[in-house]
Amino acid sequence: MTSIRPAEDADMAAVADLWHEGWHDGHAGHVPDGLTAARTLTAFHERTPPRVADTAVAVADDGSLQGFVMVVDDEVEQVFVARSARGSGLASELLAEAERRVGAAGHSTAWLAVVVGNARARRFYERHGWVDRGDLPYEVSAGGQSFVSPCRRYVKRVR
Ligand SMILES: CC(C)(COP(=O)(O)OP(=O)(O)OC[C@H]1O[C@@H](n2cnc3c(N)ncnc32)[C@H](O)[C@@H]1OP(=O)(O)O)[C@@H](O)C(=O)NCCC(=O)NCCS
Repeated sequence: MTSIRPAEDADMAAVADLWHEGWHDGHAGHVPDGLTAARTLTAFHERTPPRVADTAVAVADDGSLQGFVMVVDDEVEQVFVARSARGSGLASELLAEAERRVGAAGHSTAWLAVVVGNARARRFYERHGWVDRGDLPYEVSAGGQSFVSPCRRYVKRVR
């Protein structure tokens, strides 16, 4: 069984590993090459620990991390599941937890940015009632450089 709970400091190294793997699965080839090059495992291990309060994790009985979400205000910022958990329904449970967090923070509508070419993620969000509200050039800083990621803005009412 897998359970979802708020992240703890001890989870964040595994979150960084999963984030690194999933980021490249979903983004490589769909964002500027310089951004892909800057998204190293080391970079994820640097940026992840301070994000513990934003994060909910899905952990299997054996303690292995199966997925995570990060929420900031009304933005569902990250939704990632391990390769072995894709297609299992776990991502749906994590997305529901992210939507619950946005609503609990007092927002009626949640939003997220998804890279245009990340077809699997876009299909997943649309299946869960998220609506495509158009182009969103998303500015990202990485490795001391600034990049623009071609994204779409999706929204959903959460309460
Ligand atoms: C995005 C993610 C969380 C979705 O979770 P998941 O368990 O893979 O999602 P599901 O399998 O339930 O749904 C994916 C949908 O895309 C479809 N799909 C699979 N591969 C696809 C592809 N290459 N192109 C288009 N659609 C695809 C699936 O058939 C399914 O649609 P369906 O329900 O109509 O059959 C997960 O794939 C993931 O962690 N990816 C890597 C990280 C990432 O990109 N995160 C999102 C950042 S915004």
